[in-house]
Amino acid sequence: MRIFVAGATGVIGRPLIAQLLAKGYHVTALTRSPEKAETLAEQGVEPAIADVFDADAVQAVVTRAQPDVVIEQLTSLPKTYTPESMQAAAALNDRIRREGGANLLKASLAAGVRRYVMQSIAFWAVPGAGLADEETPLAEDASPAVADGSRTLKGLEYRLLETPNIEGIVLRYGFFYGPGTWYAADGDAAQQVRQQQFPIVGNGEGVWSWIHVEDAAAATVAAVDRGNSGIYLIADDRPLEVRLWLWAYAQWLNTPPPPHVSVEQALRISGADAVYYGTQMRGVSNAKAKRELNFQPRPLEWMVNTAVAQAS
Ligand SMILES: NC(=O)c1ccc[n+]([C@@H]2O[C@H](COP(=O)([O-])OP(=O)(O)OC[C@H]3O[C@@H](n4cnc5c(N)ncnc54)[C@H](OP(=O)(O)O)[C@@H]3O)[C@@H](O)[C@H]2O)c1
Repeated sequence: MRIFVAGATGVIGRPLIAQLLAKGYHVTALTRSPEKAETLAEQGVEPAIADVFDADAVQAVVTRAQPDVVIEQLTSLPKTYTPESMQAAAALNDRIRREGGANLLKASLAAGVRRYVMQSIAFWAVPGAGLADEETPLAEDASPAVADGSRTLKGLEYRLLETPNIEGIVLRYGFFYGPGTWYAADGDAAQQVRQQQFPIVGNGEGVWSWIHVEDAAAATVAAVDRGNSGIYLIADDRPLEVRLWLWAYAQWLNTPPPPHVSVEQALRISGADAVYYGTQMRGVSNAKAKRELNFQPRPLEWMVNTAVAQAS
């Protein structure tokens, strides 16, 4: 099978490429960088150099690659994970998904691609009791950045799923952790926790769903192989309240427990989105992915072998 990957050099793209090659697939990978193209070629990938905003160039490389399946993992997110850096990155990230994604989808249709798999986000389901599933609406009335992001995602997902003549699959990933992510031991979130800058807000009852990037890649390969058109939530088996995972994370980093701040303090210092993430976020069920993709995620790395984890 011939696969074309956009976003191949990012945190999920790297393990994804390795797993696709291990299955014996022919992989073409998009990059803007001649240096990264060289590295990709050394791995056994056929590089395609183009900027996703250049519609003609995208059309040319997709047509040349003749893929059966296209995987879109495009993002433009900062290495730092703060409300300010995320806000500053949001416009370009949206544009990459909206305009870049449109160019890639159009090129895929013109090249007769059979299946198109797209990255989406699992943690913006509308708040409520219990776990969200694929039918749960997105949080379009939540705090400003979450509401904006939810509306953007809804549009992107709809665009793909309503496009005729192509099998559209949306993978809503949980919070990435693992090599290169914000939550790796050398990542920005870890640094903030060490500096006591990542507090538990209010009661810490926001529920987060996590996924190791290698498991996210494995689910993506399964979606390529045997997914059905539609949405899949890709997260591990145990969504966790912030007050639990953040304690365990600090222990895993061998650093003192996180501080507590009230909702009022958090609103003042970090804004409404931080309060949403800390107190209202809803976890998701991975039942559909387990059933249809034989998805078998590992337990969250810092919930294994830490005292907090064993007490919970
Ligand atoms: N669910 C989640 O929690 C989630 C999801 C996504 C990202 N993140 C976080 O965000 C941070 C950065 O993620 P990342 O590694 O994916 O970002 P990244 O390293 O910036 O990778 C983005 C990918 O998109 C490609 N790309 C960006 N703009 C492009 C353009 N104009 N034309 C063609 N390709 C373009 C890049 O290709 P080239 O640079 O090779 O051209 C690269 O492959 C990480 O900490 C990650 O954990 C989290």
